[in-house]
Amino acid sequence: MLMAVATLRSAAADDAGFLEQMLAVAADWREATPRPVDEVLAIPQLARYIEGWPRPDDFGIVAEEHAPVGAAWWRHFPSESPGYGFVDEETPEISIGVLPEARNAGTGTLLLTNLISAARNRGIPRLSLSVEIENPARRLYQRLGFHDATTVGESVTMLLAL
Ligand SMILES: CC(C)(COP(=O)(O)OP(=O)(O)OC[C@H]1O[C@@H](n2cnc3c(N)ncnc32)[C@H](O)[C@@H]1OP(=O)(O)O)[C@@H](O)C(=O)NCCC(=O)NCCS
Repeated sequence: MLMAVATLRSAAADDAGFLEQMLAVAADWREATPRPVDEVLAIPQLARYIEGWPRPDDFGIVAEEHAPVGAAWWRHFPSESPGYGFVDEETPEISIGVLPEARNAGTGTLLLTNLISAARNRGIPRLSLSVEIENPARRLYQRLGFHDATTVGESVTMLLAL
């Protein structure tokens, strides 16, 4: 693997547009070109990962190489409008995306390891995520210690205890 050259910073309110783009990348991980952001945001179950960003208990990190190349963030979901990887209201769910041209250079690992550290520092008990069983991103999550919790249709909910 190549060394990562991206630098990291906290995601701010005006990163909402880039995070929406990364949400589309994550939702359409099989496609070379994801759907337009507006189409993804028209699906309530996907829009809820980013709408109203940033809520007070949201946290995210942006990786930049001159311009943003990737982002990872967590969000707490209420039980009445859960994410796909919902386990409980105390466990935030992670979303992550890296632009295709910036992948396999360590950026995703860098984003996630820093997000995990930030969660530990805040006393968050565990992190969850939902990933389709065939998505090679599962290897990345396993490498960082996430384990399978439940399978829901074509997806698996993975958890990392902190
Ligand atoms: C998953 C993703 C964020 C990883 O970012 P990255 O910068 O490429 O990650 P790194 O370079 O740090 O690590 C690469 C790891 O990603 C995984 N990976 C490899 N090819 C991949 C691919 N085509 N798609 C997804 N993940 C891949 C592997 O686990 C690889 O690690 P390995 O070489 O040890 O097996 C990025 O591939 C991506 O944005 N994919 C599309 C969106 C997506 O699937 N998001 C997650 C939805 S749950």
